[in-house]
Amino acid sequence: MTTYSGTIPAELAREEHVTRFDIHQRVQHFFLMVSFTLLVLTGMPLKFAESGISKWWISVLGGVEPTRLIHRGAAWVMIAVCVYHALYLLYGIIVLKKKFTDIFPTKNDFILFFQEMAYFTGLRKERPRFPRYNWREKFDYYAMFWGIPVMALTGLVMMFPVVATRFLPGWVLPVALIAHSDESMLALTWIVVVHVFFNHFVPGVFPFNPSIFTGKLSKERYKVDHPVEYEKLTGQSVQSKEGN
Ligand code: HEM
Ligand code: HEM
Repeated sequence: MTTYSGTIPAELAREEHVTRFDIHQRVQHFFLMVSFTLLVLTGMPLKFAESGISKWWISVLGGVEPTRLIHRGAAWVMIAVCVYHALYLLYGIIVLKKKFTDIFPTKNDFILFFQEMAYFTGLRKERPRFPRYNWREKFDYYAMFWGIPVMALTGLVMMFPVVATRFLPGWVLPVALIAHSDESMLALTWIVVVHVFFNHFVPGVFPFNPSIFTGKLSKERYKVDHPVEYEKLTGQSVQSKEGN
């Protein structure tokens, strides 16, 4: 059951949606998504080069050299997104005096994590009451802080082996390949099984969650997914609801 009380700010009252992501966040995510997809589509056939489907796909792309070239091009796009994000944060903090505290991990995230596990296993009837970012969304965000550096550093070592071995011992080359290759499987599995699944394939959201593409999410969905944030924005109380 959902109940409302209090007065909603006039601007928000007129809207059917809540603005969740600004244009910079959406542009960054777009290029992250496109570069990641290209990196997977060109990295995987190189990793599993012996399989028939890889041979077919590499021939579609024009051969091994074009495949490697697309991989390296997409890698620079991903690195550029990281630079963009760093500048976005710096500008926000220094010029706009933003604190970005919504994304900080807190003790409450652990409590919400266990509450959600209890909800998934049927031990709890009500969904946990999430703030602007739930524990999974925060995890997604921070996972990139080690995931992208691992992929980019090991990838750059392979891209510039002569420069790399001027400063580092020769064994870093095979180690970089193994780390890059193994981490790529982890990243792909996480994005498909957790990120895409929980963002699009859950009941009530399937088939599509528009938030990161349009920047907006319907008020009804916001109340279910981020009731604490909704209450902060509108001053209306949202009571926990059973199911989705
Ligand atoms: C491949 C297809 C992808 C789809 C369809 C997708 C979809 C989405 C959606 C719908 C959201 C918004 C969720 C919300 O309302 O909070 C989101 C957020 C986000 N995405 Fe993706 N994404 C994709 C790929 C990626 C990749 C490759 C990365 C990173 C390497 C990524 C990183 C993030 C981050 C950090 C957020 C903000 C935190 C969050 O909400 O989880 N996404 N994505
Ligand atoms: C972010 C920066 C990245 C850089 C600089 C980079 C660079 C490279 C380079 C230089 C290679 C060797 C092939 C070649 O000579 O072109 C390679 C291979 C590969 N990359 Fe990346 N890459 C990056 C990100 C990624 C990502 C995000 C994925 C997938 C999630 C990925 C998956 C792979 C795979 C599967 C291989 C083949 C490994 C093998 O042969 O076992 N890469 N990458």
